[in-house]
Amino acid sequence: MRKLTNILVTGGAGFIGVNFIRFLFGEGTEKSNFNGRIINLDALTYAGNIASLKDINEKFGSTRYFFEHGDICNRSFVEEIFRKYSIDTVVHFAAESHVDRSILGPEAFIKTNVNGTFTLLDVARSIWKGNEEMLFHHISTDEVYGSLGETGYFTETTPYDPRSPYSASKAASDHLVMAYNHTYGLPVTLSNCSNNYGPYQFPEKLIPLMIINMLEGKPLPVYGDGKNIRDWLYVEDHCNSIWTIMQKGRAGEKYNIGGENEWENIKLLNVLIDIAAKKSGKDADKIRSTITYVKDRPGHDRRYAIDCSKIKNELKWKQTVSFEEGLERTVEWYLSNTDWIDNIRSGEYKRWLEKNYGER
Ligand code: NAD
Ligand code: DAU
Repeated sequence: MRKLTNILVTGGAGFIGVNFIRFLFGEGTEKSNFNGRIINLDALTYAGNIASLKDINEKFGSTRYFFEHGDICNRSFVEEIFRKYSIDTVVHFAAESHVDRSILGPEAFIKTNVNGTFTLLDVARSIWKGNEEMLFHHISTDEVYGSLGETGYFTETTPYDPRSPYSASKAASDHLVMAYNHTYGLPVTLSNCSNNYGPYQFPEKLIPLMIINMLEGKPLPVYGDGKNIRDWLYVEDHCNSIWTIMQKGRAGEKYNIGGENEWENIKLLNVLIDIAAKKSGKDADKIRSTITYVKDRPGHDRRYAIDCSKIKNELKWKQTVSFEEGLERTVEWYLSNTDWIDNIRSGEYKRWLEKNYGER
């Protein structure tokens, strides 16, 4: 039986990490049966925001929740954390996660996603010494499989074919995780998930970027012809699936996770406009008139679609939040958390946007 007691969450101040920690502590809409300790290790890069867990810290700080500020590439620091908290489980979210940034500057992606994952794996191997009660769960992406044409789905046996520096760095990390299982017997599980959306997502990503620009009357930048397809999953359903794998998944196995919910970007944007207009009292047609087709992302993958029948059949997981419900919750969250948005948009991110995209 796995311990899952002292859980090291890397990247716990980022979008999915925050939602995962909230989910484990029963502070999201969906509940978990977790009763152990969380150690959140995060470097607080531009994407990390510790304010997103202020209430969790107030409620559980120093008893069941601990924050450690540091870099997963720093081996002695990672070793110290493993020993200090008797870590028996790792859930590895920490990463550089944005495809556009990986095109503008790939180096940080190699450092954190490849070297950082290696460091964590190697520390786990040296400290756990083959103990099979431990677990290293690696969070990965469907982008490692490349791009699909009009038909077909990614399965767990689809050959890897990453096409951006981001997805290549995630693919490298996946291979290291599986190699540590195969070679050293490190107890690992791995999940490859499709596009997440929901509260606390950094506003460089499509859905929060569009919501915020709509509310501020700014242009809505659509890449290329707007017909690229993504498979969207509400973030709490992703968290739930990760917890399911951690409890019941077989060591050495990988599981695909997806929403079974494919949308062309432009169609998604039109639905989002209707929801945002309804919730904010703004005029949908006026918002729609701000849609602006812009230069395409270099190497832009055309279509992602996940076959998640393995986790559904083997572990009895399923999605619970419909797309409409998820989008409504997301728009409501951004409408009522303007301080969170202002905080992010006032500093480093604003300067980065101005430097790379001018107006936007
Ligand atoms: P995010 O960019 O919102 O958060 C990443 C977090 O990692 C931040 O808190 C950041 O401070 C931290 N971090 C970055 N470098 C670090 C380092 N060297 N040491 C310690 N902490 C560091 O990312 P996200 O969207 O929450 O994604 C989390 C994970 O899920 C990533 O591994 C990503 O590849 C994967 N994933 C994301 C999606 C998605 O749609 N967002 C889908 C599938 C998989
Ligand atoms: O598929 C999982 C991946 O989903 C994760 O591994 C990544 O961490 C996550 O960032 C996400 O990658 P995408 O590149 O799919 O997400 P993004 O939100 O950047 O873009 C979604 C789609 O919208 C994509 O086809 C590009 C398009 N887009 C994006 C932005 C930011 C636009 O048309 N305009 C935009 O301004």
